[in-house]
Amino acid sequence: MNIILLGPPGAGKGTQARHLVETRGMIQLSTGDMLREARNSGTEMGKKVAAIMDAGKLVTDEIVIGLIEERLTTEKGAGFIFDGFPRTLAQADALGALLAKLGQSLHTVIEMRVDDEALVKRITGRFTCGDCGEVYHDETKPTAEPGKCDNCGGTNMVRRADDNEDSLRTRLMEYYKKTSPLIGYYYAKGDLRPVNGLADIKEVRASIAAILG
Ligand code: AP5
Repeated sequence: MNIILLGPPGAGKGTQARHLVETRGMIQLSTGDMLREARNSGTEMGKKVAAIMDAGKLVTDEIVIGLIEERLTTEKGAGFIFDGFPRTLAQADALGALLAKLGQSLHTVIEMRVDDEALVKRITGRFTCGDCGEVYHDETKPTAEPGKCDNCGGTNMVRRADDNEDSLRTRLMEYYKKTSPLIGYYYAKGDLRPVNGLADIKEVRASIAAILG
């Protein structure tokens, strides 16, 4: 079963994807994580994308489609969770073509609906364990012990360079201009299932589970 988690920055895509990986053995394909890995590795591509990401703009379709293609053809599991991909109509068309080439299809597109006010709070309060990637929030999901990851015990907590109000404004604008048309695109294909992303994390999990069966 291959699914897309679609929603604006901070909607909770990564949080829900991690849960689906743990409970269903699915494979999370987050283009944001792939691009952050590339920038940390210091490759030419990484250097090129770093400034774009920090400003909150979208990286080119060519780069992200290439990253997804590579992972789709090499990884195997109980289906893929596309997290933060596709983000443009060209990416959506490319994903459809890639899946068809592999004899696969898309099961569902889960649209995570959250209002803009909530997104600012979520993004500015987010921090992540630099060792295992567990995602936290200063208010809604703090660690049990300050500075120590509940999941792996690591103490290397990180905040993203693009998690600030200025960058978020650009990310939101990019979302409304380039990504939100995908809501209509997948609705027309009959694949779209909305969930209330404003509910608490466990309730969102339950709504997604009800859709996926
Ligand atoms: P990416 O890494 O994909 O970032 P994003 O889409 O902006 O999404 P986020 O990771 O910020 O949010 P999320 O929805 O995963 O929320 P999370 O679960 O962490 O992309 C970063 C950049 O890379 C882009 O700006 C672009 O430059 C580039 N890029 C990536 N993909 C690209 C593509 N396909 N094409 C072109 N460029 C691309 O939750 C957020 C916070 O809220 C956390 O603190 C969490 O604990 C909390 N939270 C989550 N759910 C809830 C809840 N239900 N209630 C309360 N708090 C909650």
